[in-house]
Amino acid sequence: MSMERIASILAQTPKGQKITLCAWVRTFRNTQFIALQDGSSTEPLQAVIQAHNFPEELIKKINTGACLEITGTLAESLGKGQSVELHVSDLKILGECDASVYPLQPKKHSLEFLREIGHLRMRSQVFGAVFRVRHHLSFAVHQFFNQKGFFNLHTPIITASDAEGAGELFHVTTLNLNDLPKDSAGKVDFSQDFFGTEAHLTVSGQLQGELGAMALGQIYTFGPTFRAENSNTTRHLSEFWMIEPEMAFYNLQDNMDLAEEFLKYLCNYALTHAKDEIKLLSEREAEEQKQLPQEKRNSMTLAERLAFVVDSPFERITYTEAVKILEQSKPHKNGKFQFPVAWGLELQSEHERYLVEQHFKKPAIITGYPAAFKAFYMRMNDDGKTVAAMDVLFPGIGEIMGGSQREERLAILEQKCQTSGIDPQTLWWYLDTRRFGTCVHSGFGLGFERLVMFVTGMTNIRDVIPFPRTPKSANF
Ligand code: 4AD
Ligand code: MG
Repeated sequence: MSMERIASILAQTPKGQKITLCAWVRTFRNTQFIALQDGSSTEPLQAVIQAHNFPEELIKKINTGACLEITGTLAESLGKGQSVELHVSDLKILGECDASVYPLQPKKHSLEFLREIGHLRMRSQVFGAVFRVRHHLSFAVHQFFNQKGFFNLHTPIITASDAEGAGELFHVTTLNLNDLPKDSAGKVDFSQDFFGTEAHLTVSGQLQGELGAMALGQIYTFGPTFRAENSNTTRHLSEFWMIEPEMAFYNLQDNMDLAEEFLKYLCNYALTHAKDEIKLLSEREAEEQKQLPQEKRNSMTLAERLAFVVDSPFERITYTEAVKILEQSKPHKNGKFQFPVAWGLELQSEHERYLVEQHFKKPAIITGYPAAFKAFYMRMNDDGKTVAAMDVLFPGIGEIMGGSQREERLAILEQKCQTSGIDPQTLWWYLDTRRFGTCVHSGFGLGFERLVMFVTGMTNIRDVIPFPRTPKSANF
């Protein structure tokens, strides 16, 4: 039997062709019109059924959520809102659904409620759209790098190194937690653990990615990333996906150019390949915005924001310049920022958002952060104080990407290890790249969910990953 998907059925010119499909019922109106969805499109397919031609028992089972196999002929629709409809000749109930207990009703549910039914929420129109966009973006990532001659490198998920040196690690162990072996100093004896050493889930594939770049020239990773930060915000997940390209012979300038081209490519890809989804999500957002006071509403629609990113050059400034702008800013002068602003302090998300949302009103790349609060592998600038770091900030999101030119000079890198409290011995394999044919190289990491947030207009990161993992929550 040849089954068709609704997306392709809707694209056909109706001329009485016979069609069979399997799909779920979204609504059943007037014992006549069944709105069907199968996950392939934002629009449902309308099936029209003459109830008197079918047993009453069967008609009663056409409930929201029920799974059907339907055969019919495709005709032009006279109804509003759709161009084609299916005139049903055969109908089988594949899976019944008791509408009295089915949590997803054909009405608007809040995102919070849908989060609680994470096992079903992908069936809703909004989440169907979000996860189709997520797919398209993922595909576009591979396409972009493949076209540029980058190689996809699978870096390990279990690792013994802490790439970011931030210490926010999930342990991986087979030791008996109720009876841990201890060494003579009373510390856990990881030599008896599965890997013979302390191991954890990766916080970044970068260090191994650098090894790849030193061999294959240009690589990218796209994998799950784990951080045990206890930050319960709308922008942090404990498990997220990161894309990390690493390029031999790229300096910071080249790195910024690639980052900007990449983000523009992804936004443009979504605009052209997920038109219907972006339209639906734009409408959802516009609806949601009506609840907000005028001054809090977005000045551009979702589609306009995406087009704007594609068309406008990103602002590029140094950390030092950013601090000057913030020191001169109204919220700083009026004491509206929660956190202080001064050279040498980290930019908080309120500062980042001020810069891109109020000041520049477009994406910005900030370079030259103080070495003190950036990772050990970033290249030291000639001033001896700042590093060749780059953070890309997006309106509504804040930091979407972080990267740098890497420290390629062995002596300086060893020194940086020491000052960051990292024993260079443990990173001997990483430092070897600086011993054996070192070169200028750079890379960055794009937080995939933050990108999906920007492209879908969703404002909580839990709503752009199918099954979010956050502190105290690993449901489904
Ligand atoms: O800035 P981060 O920590 O940089 C790195 O991990 C580098 N190794 C990247 C590199 O140069 N190859 O993380 C990169 C991006 C952030 O900009 C943010 O978008 C995302 O990853 N990110 C998170 N996304 C969701 N939840 C979290 N807890 C995140 N932490 C970082
Ligand atoms: Mg960062």
